[in-house]
Amino acid sequence: MIRWLEDAVFYEIYPQSFMDSNGDGIGDFQGIIGKLDYIKGLGCNALWINPCFDSPFKDAGYDVRDYKKAAPRYGTNEDLEALFREAHARGIHVLLDLVAGHTSEEHPWFKESRKPEPNALWGRYIWTDFIFKWGGGLNFIAGEAERDAGYVTNFFKCQPALNYGFLHPSESWHQAMDSPDALATREAMKDVICFWLEKGCDGFRVDMADSLVKFDDEKKSGTCLVWRDIFGSVREKYPEAAFVAEWSNPDLALSSAGFDMDFYLDHLGNGYNTLLRDYKSGEDRSYFKKDAGGDIRRFLEDYLPRYERTRKDGYISMLSCNHDTQRPAYTLTDRELKVFYCFLFTMPGVPFLYYGDEIGMRYQEGLPTKEGGYYRTGSRTPMQWGPGKNLGFSEADRESLYLPVDPSPDAPTAAAQMEDPDSLLSAVKALTALRHAHRDLQAGTPFEVLYAEPGRELFVYRRGSMVIAINPSGKEALAPVPAGGRKTCFRLGSGQADEKGIRLGPQSCLVLEEERA
Ligand code: NOJ
Repeated sequence: MIRWLEDAVFYEIYPQSFMDSNGDGIGDFQGIIGKLDYIKGLGCNALWINPCFDSPFKDAGYDVRDYKKAAPRYGTNEDLEALFREAHARGIHVLLDLVAGHTSEEHPWFKESRKPEPNALWGRYIWTDFIFKWGGGLNFIAGEAERDAGYVTNFFKCQPALNYGFLHPSESWHQAMDSPDALATREAMKDVICFWLEKGCDGFRVDMADSLVKFDDEKKSGTCLVWRDIFGSVREKYPEAAFVAEWSNPDLALSSAGFDMDFYLDHLGNGYNTLLRDYKSGEDRSYFKKDAGGDIRRFLEDYLPRYERTRKDGYISMLSCNHDTQRPAYTLTDRELKVFYCFLFTMPGVPFLYYGDEIGMRYQEGLPTKEGGYYRTGSRTPMQWGPGKNLGFSEADRESLYLPVDPSPDAPTAAAQMEDPDSLLSAVKALTALRHAHRDLQAGTPFEVLYAEPGRELFVYRRGSMVIAINPSGKEALAPVPAGGRKTCFRLGSGQADEKGIRLGPQSCLVLEEERA
């Protein structure tokens, strides 16, 4: 396990919308550099920056045209290196985003691969030997390339799938995982990883990490093997580099593939979904929604066995939100969010905060899709820094902004919340400080459920010498968990603990520590 991850609290930055330093209406590296003190002040000591490489931006940069070149709209490679240096000077680690399963259709590899005459990159992508096929779940495109074949895509039409080979090649157009072309793709990806690690980044968030070996790899043993090989070579030279998977399957991502962290993503019906976003049926049953009658056991049933099975191998990363998900303030009030953040920052694993969630930035409904965002666009609007033009995000005219800023007169801002000790931002700061101050609240310290009963919303758990009690409901609640002689390290709302148990007021939390002899 990588040591620096134990005390890491991540902040995800969607670079388009964080801070525009040159007045062109879109965020940039210098903008991020200018806000590093703010991020440090929040208590975040690690960053994940969404893809910031040269791209036609049909999928917000997840369609990479050149893995080794910063997108000019954000700055140069030198600016990005300066960002690494400035972040490190403040004790902040930086992860970039690695899109390993596909490239843009404009990547030079693909431009070469699509040519009619065989060449060295003909096998960098997956080409079929047919141009029509109905059914079979195969995403492939024909009618686009000069080559007498179709090509497989990984996500949107503009994202041809890289060829890592097939686990059990069964068609003439399938290459084996150890074919020269498939191995060359692997080496090319190692080269990209090392290129940025050498320049000073500290690791990667890996996009669609499960998507390397296609179709016949249901159990993902092929994809896991490729990752093991990649990590084997990269870690020899960069043992401190950290990798977080977009996978949401810790048994595979952590235990089989060898990632350090795996995101617990909002997938309909999984444990994480029951916490904040269980509203797709029309009725909101989310655990952190006050008086929704939520049941923490629905989360635990999914989470606990996975946590137990994988905790020796890596960390399950819980998050406030990401660039693909509706912001939590879409349905939750500031107070509900504070209760959730007590949980987020005291659970095992490495927590991730999405920019703006520290001030309760709202999901902007009804925006036209931007750069392939569709419904996700509403979670990607500019950071709200303070009063003044474009809420401090940019000096550009409103019409030139990447996306509009929240137009509502009461749009939350960082500046206003900074001044207010009761703000959401102040609660986030207090909680990250609490986590940094107590080794037992950080990643790796075991987690044990002390109280989670049917029909009761109160939830109590232990992390080493710390006991955490959470009550998201609007009613006072008591858990018969003896907790006398403990020091209160953090309190939200009202609560007390003694030999009989822990009593919490409505929407309240307590973090207690065993008094050391
Ligand atoms: C997952 C990313 O989070 C998402 O934003 C992107 O559109 C797809 N992968 C495709 O790369």
